[in-house]
Amino acid sequence: MANTAKVSCTATNMKIETAHNSDAPAILALQRLAYQSEAALYPGHQIPALSQSLEELLEEMGQMIFLKALIEGELVGSVRAKLEGPDWQIGRLIVSPKFQGQGIGTALLTTIEMAAPEQATHHVLFTGHLSHRNLELYERRGYQRFDQKTVTLGLDLVFLKKEVK
Ligand SMILES: CC(C)(COP(=O)(O)OP(=O)(O)OC[C@H]1O[C@@H](n2cnc3c(N)ncnc32)[C@H](O)[C@@H]1OP(=O)(O)O)[C@@H](O)C(=O)NCCC(=O)NCCS
Repeated sequence: MANTAKVSCTATNMKIETAHNSDAPAILALQRLAYQSEAALYPGHQIPALSQSLEELLEEMGQMIFLKALIEGELVGSVRAKLEGPDWQIGRLIVSPKFQGQGIGTALLTTIEMAAPEQATHHVLFTGHLSHRNLELYERRGYQRFDQKTVTLGLDLVFLKKEVK
């Protein structure tokens, strides 16, 4: 994917490309690092992104489109998506903690939205109910809450969607 989204990103020389199986170990390592902040919000809860194995990630890569954000060859972010019925299900938006707050997450989100196939009518994603910064990021990008499900005591998942334009 050569068409990096035209969004303001202050990180210099950042590019977004399609990720492949060979990127799986680096994506998994980044996922485990990035999701530490989520784990801190939900103490005592098992966070699936932190327990995913390399084999499981490789299996997901066969079913989803994966994007990677690179700065001078270093993996600094990733996101994945797949079509489920009319929904373009977007998941695991991650940016390396040392590169957060520079627009990379927003650029990844915009680029994966642009990759939605024609049949998709909605972009759909979810996050935890205490993940206020994630919720703000998604709502600022036009997503609206449509469902909330309790996973266990102290952890709800908030589902958000927006129409594919
Ligand atoms: C969510 C995440 C991908 C955002 O990436 P990013 O590159 O920092 O995002 P951007 O710079 O484009 O936008 C920053 C906005 O993202 C949101 N945000 C969420 N978590 C953030 C964090 N730890 N640091 C900075 N911004 C964060 C805020 O709304 C922020 O806006 P603000 O600067 O006005 O507060 C990144 O923080 C991350 O990897 N978090 C851990 C994993 C995670 O929770 N992923 C989402 C799962 S649903």
